[in-house]
Amino acid sequence: MKYTYYGQSCFLLETATKKFLFDPFISQNPLASDIDITKIEADYILVSHGHGDHVADLVTLAKQTKATVIAIPEIIGWLSKQGVENVHPMNFGRYKFDFGTVRMVWATHTSGLPDGSYGGNPAGFVLELDGKQIYFAGDTGLTIEMKLLAELYQLDYAILPIGGNYTMDVDDAVIAANYINCDQIIGVHYNTFPVIAINMLGAIDSFRRAQKTLLLPKIGETITL
Ligand code: NI
Ligand code: MN
Repeated sequence: MKYTYYGQSCFLLETATKKFLFDPFISQNPLASDIDITKIEADYILVSHGHGDHVADLVTLAKQTKATVIAIPEIIGWLSKQGVENVHPMNFGRYKFDFGTVRMVWATHTSGLPDGSYGGNPAGFVLELDGKQIYFAGDTGLTIEMKLLAELYQLDYAILPIGGNYTMDVDDAVIAANYINCDQIIGVHYNTFPVIAINMLGAIDSFRRAQKTLLLPKIGETITL
């Protein structure tokens, strides 16, 4: 499976047969100015919550790719009003798609849409894809809810926010990695704004001291999971 980072919490997971895009926010991110969104392809777009730094390019890319958008019903309703037709609303539960399973899980955050519409609850996702179990936390603070994931899964990778202020910071994310019992962490939601700037080498070292690996691919970089 391949992981391509597009900045903030936007990334693409790619199996042999399917492409999954998460939290599309590219055109308004100055750090991602080298990414050409007209070239992005996706079969599914998963949305964690309604904040602008997660949905800015959602309508554009949903229409461009014809991907099926997976999100909480309140976000799906907002998309439907804007003419997005391929949708799969889900709430805190699990569904077996033809490609694998998706579970929507709790995130401790808020969720309003850019036009002020109610965004429902914020969420994260656990995907079972290609024999791997992957957790994308969305925007969340550290929460004891995460311990449940260690009971339900043996996570291979976790994509966690590490920038602080709006979400977990690096130290919180190390604790989260212990809660979920996952050793391979991919950091997101950092450096986009001054208030979420981090020391990247220090962050990698913090995870190393906890016997864990923090991966911080560059924007536009693809890594193999
Ligand atoms: Ni947010
Ligand atoms: Mn955010």
